[in-house]
Amino acid sequence: MTASPHTTNHPPLAEADVLVSARSLAEYTDMFGLDEADLRRRILDCPGGAASAVAEICAAGGEARAVDPQYALGSEELRGRILTDLDRSLEQKHDLDLEYDWDVRGGIVGHEALRRSAAERMLADLDAAPERYVAGALPSLPLADDSADLVLCSHLLFTYADGLDTADHVAAIVEMARVAPEVRIYPLVDYAGNPLPELVRSVIAKLKKERLTSRIEPVHRPFQLAATTRLVVERTRRRPLAPA
Ligand SMILES: C[S@@+](CC[C@H](N)C(=O)[O-])C[C@H]1O[C@@H](n2cnc3c(N)ncnc32)[C@H](O)[C@@H]1O
Repeated sequence: MTASPHTTNHPPLAEADVLVSARSLAEYTDMFGLDEADLRRRILDCPGGAASAVAEICAAGGEARAVDPQYALGSEELRGRILTDLDRSLEQKHDLDLEYDWDVRGGIVGHEALRRSAAERMLADLDAAPERYVAGALPSLPLADDSADLVLCSHLLFTYADGLDTADHVAAIVEMARVAPEVRIYPLVDYAGNPLPELVRSVIAKLKKERLTSRIEPVHRPFQLAATTRLVVERTRRRPLAPA
């Protein structure tokens, strides 16, 4: 997120350090508390990575798009990156075995099968409907104001807190709230499961100054054991003027 005008003196988030991971719509539903009404809204998955949420929502008649800088790669190179990162991500999880509730996704074998099928489903959809996958990066998305109703932001902000500071988080969230009136972000811990109370508190305080209201909601049975909450950010509604 080096393009942020707010970025301060910290090492930039190297693209190679950020895994292009592949979650399914079932995982998104749990992480973001999605219900039927949500799935009828215009959804933006940012970052989409290799998640199959967009493909699954559209297959069910919904309207969804994804944004990710890696979509600038050609489809063959992207496929290679996604499959390599899938192996890297599974390896890392096996190393951090105790940090996850493997029963949530059918054990290690079930989890691996789900991630592989999500990646394959996303790649098939990318070929069939490339217009749903927009190359772009926070904090400056190539999308019009209010072109979505709900942005889902999974496993970038807070997850990579070692490479993104408070200003980066705020700039990214303000940008997503320009594209849609509601933004849901998960998780609020870093990839090792460390809680980030100071960062979360300072981001929420700065969002308030940008007229964005935040609330923290519980997440039911998280796969990453420490990731028990999500952040929901909405544009602050103006109170109607009292009649004179
Ligand atoms: C861990 S993956 C998460 C993908 C998907 N949301 C999921 O949960 O499976 C993180 C993604 O963030 C993307 N990314 C990295 N820098 C970004 C930026 N500045 N703006 C948007 N996406 C970015 C990466 O390319 C990568 O695909």
